[in-house]
Amino acid sequence: MGMEESSENREKLVFLETFGCQMNDNDSERMLGILKGINFARTDDPNCADLILINTCTVRDKAEQKVYSTLGRYKELKRGRPGLIIGIAGCVAQQQGEKLLKRAPHLDMVFGPHNVHKLRELLLEADSGRRVVATALTEAIDAGEYGAAPEASGEKAFVSIMRGCNNFCSYCIVPYTRGREVSRLSADIISEIEGLCAKGVKEVTLLGQNVNSYSTSGGGDVSFPALLGMVCSLKGLLRVRFMTSHPKDIGAELIELFGAEKKLCRHLHLPVQSGSDRILEKMGRGYTVSEYLSKIERIKALYPDMAITTDIIAGFPGETAEDFEATMALVRRARFDNIFAFMYSLRPGTAAASFDGQLSVEVRTRRLQALLDEQRVITLEKNRDLIGRTVEVLVEGPSRGDASRMMGKTQCNRIVNIACPPGLDVLQGSIMEAVVTDASPNTLSAEAKTGNH
Ligand code: SAH
Ligand code: SF4
Ligand code: F3S
Repeated sequence: MGMEESSENREKLVFLETFGCQMNDNDSERMLGILKGINFARTDDPNCADLILINTCTVRDKAEQKVYSTLGRYKELKRGRPGLIIGIAGCVAQQQGEKLLKRAPHLDMVFGPHNVHKLRELLLEADSGRRVVATALTEAIDAGEYGAAPEASGEKAFVSIMRGCNNFCSYCIVPYTRGREVSRLSADIISEIEGLCAKGVKEVTLLGQNVNSYSTSGGGDVSFPALLGMVCSLKGLLRVRFMTSHPKDIGAELIELFGAEKKLCRHLHLPVQSGSDRILEKMGRGYTVSEYLSKIERIKALYPDMAITTDIIAGFPGETAEDFEATMALVRRARFDNIFAFMYSLRPGTAAASFDGQLSVEVRTRRLQALLDEQRVITLEKNRDLIGRTVEVLVEGPSRGDASRMMGKTQCNRIVNIACPPGLDVLQGSIMEAVVTDASPNTLSAEAKTGNH
């Protein structure tokens, strides 16, 4: 690639593919920020790239397998162009390390989530012909770890406020790939968001595996609600979101904040995982179904327009037909605005991998499908309930396939296509009010009510 010599005169191209959660999206944006500083531009064609990076996820087996098939696709490319550098980042890189180099002789770099900020140095090494592995998990946040501003495009951005997880839910690989919880200083977070606002960002999502343990887990200097208050007071920012909240840790102070802070979107993602106390216990989640229900019912009593979404795992080891029925009953009772349901996937090294009663793929598939079918009806009913109501939409641009309408998201993240009268000047990145006229399972149709704010 000749990075050193050519950096002055030739712009190089990076092809970057991201799998997994918003943490990975954010890490990818930070990689792009670093690469931009050394004269890389992004391309969506791997065939003309000087550098191919795959940011990976290993939360379920399927996600991991996707990485190997993706990697396989680039083998021929490398043969044709030996100067091409191929790197694997993210949670598979962290888990597999060295082993990936053995598995894929055409791979040059393997680096984990705590090593993203070293990308420039890693590239120099790879460029000089060495194959590099950087998978050290550090206890504290490195100076400079969040140094390069994430590349932000558009009106929305993610900001990591902490990293890692201390919960060790028995099924979950994340604590092994992301290390222990460490919080960032509020001043660093605020200045990162100010930088994003200067680039035109209007909505930020504060990220952490368990944002409710921000600060108490060390490193942070204020409580999570206090941090949210600081972020909400930033001028230029129109919306603030956060995820993920752990049901055992979400507190009264945070819930009150939804009443006081107008910029805080009325949406809470609160993963329940199962509707059976027996299974929740085996998962190590630290709450019961009735504790969970009373929390969300209190929240909905205070804020009737609050959208609540959740994650559910179908077919955890030892889950009986009755346990699963309890989960279905919870879904019917809670009437979530949406659920993200997954079939249990055995992750080597986690506690649940050695639990008795691992279920067949048939049982897990059938239960997953039953959950999805149940929720599809509820989601549509909840969307239909909005017909005739006014919603607040952050405009993202013209609707795909119909440029006469504008597309945006409600506070609870529903997609809305808005018919606008001719002459109404709607700006991307502005908030507008619209009256809902129709609903499908995935989108709302609406008519513009007022102009921009
Ligand atoms: N920190 C968040 C979520 C992290 S992973 C939380 O605690 O809720 C996102 C979701 O993936 C989890 O909520 C869970 O539903 C799912 N998940 C994690 N490990 C899984 C596994 N081994 N099999 C199936 N789903 C899993
Ligand atoms: Fe995984 Fe549990 Fe941590 Fe979420 S809280 S990342 S599910 S261990
Ligand atoms: Fe996947 Fe790692 Fe996120 S395993 S879900 S990319 S923390």
